[in-house]
Amino acid sequence: MRTETGQVTSLADYRPTDFVLERVDLTFELDPTETKVEARLIFHRREEANPNAPLVLDGDELVLSSVLFDQIEIDSERYTATPDSLTIRDLPASEPFEITITTLINPEANTQLMGLYRSNGIYCTQCEAEGFRRITYFPDRPDVLAVYTVNIIADKAANPLLLSNGNFLGGAGYGEGKHFAAWFDPHPKPSYLFALVAGDLGLVEDTFTTVSGREVALKIYVEHGKEPRATYAMDALKRSMTWDEETFGREYDLDIFMIVAVSDFNMGAMENKGLNIFNDKYVLADPETATDADYANIEAIIAHEYFHNWTGNRITCRDWFQLCLKEGLTVYRDHEFSADQRSRAVKRIGEVRHLRSEQFVEDSGPLAHPVRPSQYKEINNFYTTTVYEKGSEVTRMIASILGKDLFKQGMDLYFERHDGDAATVEDFVQCFADVSNRNLSQFSLWYHQAGTPHVTVSCDYDTNAQTFTVKLAQTIAATPGQPDKKPMHIPLSFALLANDGAMIAPASASGGEVSENLLHLTEAAQSFVFHGVPERPVLSLNRSFSAPVILNFTQSSDDLALIARYESDLFSRWQALTDLALPVLCEGVKQVRAAQPVLFNDALKRSLLAIVADDTLEPAFRAQALALPSEADIARELGGDIDPDAIYAARKAIIHDIAVAGLDIFKGLLAQMATDAAYTPDAKAAGQRALKNAALAYVVQAENDPLKAAEAYAKANNMTDLSHSLSILAHHFPGTTETKAALSDFESRFANNALVLDKWFSIQATIPGEDGLVRIKTLMQSPKFNAANPNRVRALIGSFAFANPTGFHRADGASYSVVTEEILAIDKRNPQLAARLLTSMRTWKLLEPQRAGKARAALTTIANANDLSNDVRDIIDRILT
Ligand code: ARG
Ligand code: ZN
Repeated sequence: MRTETGQVTSLADYRPTDFVLERVDLTFELDPTETKVEARLIFHRREEANPNAPLVLDGDELVLSSVLFDQIEIDSERYTATPDSLTIRDLPASEPFEITITTLINPEANTQLMGLYRSNGIYCTQCEAEGFRRITYFPDRPDVLAVYTVNIIADKAANPLLLSNGNFLGGAGYGEGKHFAAWFDPHPKPSYLFALVAGDLGLVEDTFTTVSGREVALKIYVEHGKEPRATYAMDALKRSMTWDEETFGREYDLDIFMIVAVSDFNMGAMENKGLNIFNDKYVLADPETATDADYANIEAIIAHEYFHNWTGNRITCRDWFQLCLKEGLTVYRDHEFSADQRSRAVKRIGEVRHLRSEQFVEDSGPLAHPVRPSQYKEINNFYTTTVYEKGSEVTRMIASILGKDLFKQGMDLYFERHDGDAATVEDFVQCFADVSNRNLSQFSLWYHQAGTPHVTVSCDYDTNAQTFTVKLAQTIAATPGQPDKKPMHIPLSFALLANDGAMIAPASASGGEVSENLLHLTEAAQSFVFHGVPERPVLSLNRSFSAPVILNFTQSSDDLALIARYESDLFSRWQALTDLALPVLCEGVKQVRAAQPVLFNDALKRSLLAIVADDTLEPAFRAQALALPSEADIARELGGDIDPDAIYAARKAIIHDIAVAGLDIFKGLLAQMATDAAYTPDAKAAGQRALKNAALAYVVQAENDPLKAAEAYAKANNMTDLSHSLSILAHHFPGTTETKAALSDFESRFANNALVLDKWFSIQATIPGEDGLVRIKTLMQSPKFNAANPNRVRALIGSFAFANPTGFHRADGASYSVVTEEILAIDKRNPQLAARLLTSMRTWKLLEPQRAGKARAALTTIANANDLSNDVRDIIDRILT
């Protein structure tokens, strides 16, 4: 494990390597505990480099067996080897030379799941960001691109399958009981895209003919017996390949594309060239075991990793500060893909919900950092929603500022200009500046300034002059290391609505750039005046969430109700409902804390029920409307002195009230959406299920009776309905006979399916109330739980810490102690997983004082522990500051 180094890596220190790596030849003799890795590396010194500079290679927990120079053992004075570096001196000034390094590694003991490890008997790798240096000494940085040949030797019976990047060269027997395979990847790549897989797996095969007529073999490898559950992933892959050709003109570039699903994986998946490795959670699906959300995630992640082939692999990052160059852009591409495959508006609502609940929280707390950071202590801690999701939003803003055609031209230019490069964010932005002749320097602040901009809005209508003035002011709070911010270029999509809901087209506008329904806010304060506006309009601002900002805009309930009723942008209708709901919920929290009854006016109820009852609206949208702001949303809105119990109680009371008022509607929907049709995972069917299930939750809460949920559980013919009814039972009627029966039925029915049991873990881990702690402690003892598997840990401990506010933040602080103890234990095995779990406490300072004190004490225990990983040390230092 890499323990705390305290070292800071700075963007300002970037400089190219002294040596150019020309070729890489790797030979692996696989063995579960003693794998031999021989790396033959051909280098030459860069012309500009100091002729005496030594070659310094990265390592991490490596054991060197030997090092050769041009096939001859080097004098021990000429090199220095430590577990984390190999330095070789006295190297040629200009001519190429070969270094051959042999290391011994232990895949079985690799519990941090970085480098080469074993998962359920399968050898696999994860090299991004800095895992390759755990395999061999190497210039392990993304700007070192080389062509790789890989030879794999392994026991044949245990490992019939030997895979690596690129195209298969050939294979043969190799001594007693062994065989070998050779792979060649013609595309120069950085080490983080290297992959190797060996083992015994089942295969699902297909082919794809590219737009220029080349046939590509598609192979998805999963554990034997799970092949039928990989067909949806295959379908999603083919749709992704077609979409990238049609939308971005990107064609696949090898003869084979492989996906391997493994059960132990720190993240979602990895885009290794030609050989993507996936967390099996994002590959395996069938109606009996996967929910609609699982299907949507699989589709999105398959697409995401495939899209990386161009945005990430063909054009990679110069250094890890540029991570958003590939991640933000690729998230944008997968969002657009899903929007095209499904309902764009519903997809957008989901994206914004996620952005606000994760990224906005990150951006306003101790872990805030720019989309393109300039310093890090541990790069693994920068695979964040800021880099990914805010990075995607920044790309989206470029698209809306430039418009569809210019954005396409800019992307084309990027692919043309930088194919084969290790590029920077500046390179990317320059392409859009060049095609549009726009100066994007102010816009680029989105990459460099952390924090979510707040935009204050006020409006004024002048009847006599028929002008409508929109006054905007922007601010960004200080974030770590950035006390002062400059005004940003914020593109705000808008509409002016008349009293009857029709759109008003003003004759002209002044005060700043206004183009195609976009207000370009560029000053700290700016007034836009619309002329020729015949009546007082209602302003709908930030339509489709054109900019990732927080609007401070107090609109009357009447105005919000009008938007909720008439906006043609469905996102804005949902947003108006949210804006009606949040003040009601926050007021409810105050009432609960003052021990008063929770009372609220009818505007919210009326607007909400009207939308829910409107058959002309797509069911998935109506379901989104019914999912009122979450407890975390309310906490964010309150902004401090958080009492999770009061939030829970207020929200529950308000939902109960709405449920009672709309009972007939909800019952009607339950009947109307019920269907005997066989399950299909498409967006339309999923939307109907979502509405039916939302209605079920309201009916059950209105009646305060588990009966209907128990019935739904009994007759469910798919995992969406089954897990939904189970969570209604568990969350609203814990401990009842109905709930106990359903939980134990679920457990025995899926006893052999770990991914499905994760749902069982997480449903129980999120049952509200302080008993949650006892429950997760008991579940951790379950034979089904395995603390070494990241999916299990996230399902149980992660769900509890991130998604059970009343349980995790119980007032006596007991949950904090248990979870921090667990984090310390996990840190010994898997620092990345531990660091991720620890971020669940990043908002501790916003809690009411008693809880905040308990949280601080628990965090201090972590801070005082010895031998923390670099990952956990970095997070704890920032959170506690
Ligand atoms: N590049 C991967 C993706 O598609 C993420 C891999 C990150 N892995 C890590 N260990 N930090 O988003
Ligand atoms: Zn990615």
